[in-house]
Amino acid sequence: MSAVMELLLLLPLVLLALEAPLCHGACVEVDSDTEAVISDGFKLGCIYCKMRGEVDATATVKWSFKGSGDSDFSDLYIYEDARGEIIDPRFYERLAWNGSKHTTDLQDGSIYILNVTYNDTGTYKCKFSRTLKYSNYDYEKTIEKNITINVVARLTRGMASILSEVMMYVSIIGLQFWLLVEMIYCYRKISAAGEEALRESALGKRSRRLL
Ligand SMILES: *[C@@H]1O[C@H](CO)[C@@H](O)[C@H](O)[C@H]1NC(C)=O
Ligand SMILES: *[C@@H]1O[C@H](CO)[C@@H](O)[C@H](O)[C@H]1NC(C)=O
Ligand SMILES: *[C@@H]1O[C@H](CO)[C@@H](O)[C@H](O)[C@H]1NC(C)=O
Ligand SMILES: *[C@@H]1O[C@H](CO)[C@@H](O)[C@H](O)[C@H]1NC(C)=O
Repeated sequence: MSAVMELLLLLPLVLLALEAPLCHGACVEVDSDTEAVISDGFKLGCIYCKMRGEVDATATVKWSFKGSGDSDFSDLYIYEDARGEIIDPRFYERLAWNGSKHTTDLQDGSIYILNVTYNDTGTYKCKFSRTLKYSNYDYEKTIEKNITINVVARLTRGMASILSEVMMYVSIIGLQFWLLVEMIYCYRKISAAGEEALRESALGKRSRRLL
């Protein structure tokens, strides 16, 4: 079997191995969606993973908002000591915590807007502050993420997104089919190898005789 063929047979295994961490609920820093639909709910995602082996920590998350008509960011929401508080009156009774639950060691600081209005268009800033608690000192780490939200009447999907999904299915099916063909080809080649060798040596003898 050629090296390329071996690689192709191994590919599904490699993909499985890569997927395994996701299945075990490991933290993955996915980017937030940026298109909200009017009158629907919308999740503003903000994830800050702890690294493998990092000690116990506590974290707070502060969200700020700069509407399309605003000149600057203003405080929107704060989550501290496992409790959230809405600061911006424009969002009273319209925000819910969607982040890590029942812990102060947060990794997910996402919030959820209920009943999106066109006024929610703008930039949201998520500030994650994490205090790592080492035995004799604390260590502070912060990150900031900006998420620019567009409010639309209906969810639109870019042509690129549709095309890439189609391509994904085509390539998955194509690869599987190719794999099958390769396997059948291999099997037949191996089982016919003996015969082939005999026939070839016979042919060889005959042509030598002709010479
Ligand atoms: C996010 O919050 C909304 C409103 O409380 C809730 O309906 C939804 O199930 C939550 N989603 C997650 C993943 O926590
Ligand atoms: C959402 O807001 C609109 C207008 O502000 C209102 O008419 C509608 O009833 C609200 N929907 C929900 C589920 O609160
Ligand atoms: C959006 O903002 C405008 C101007 O501040 C205000 O008049 C209007 O009531 C707001 N609409 C909603 C649905 O909050
Ligand atoms: C977020 O936006 C603010 C102001 O627009 C900018 O100062 C800041 O550097 C941005 N942060 C990131 C992480 O892009």
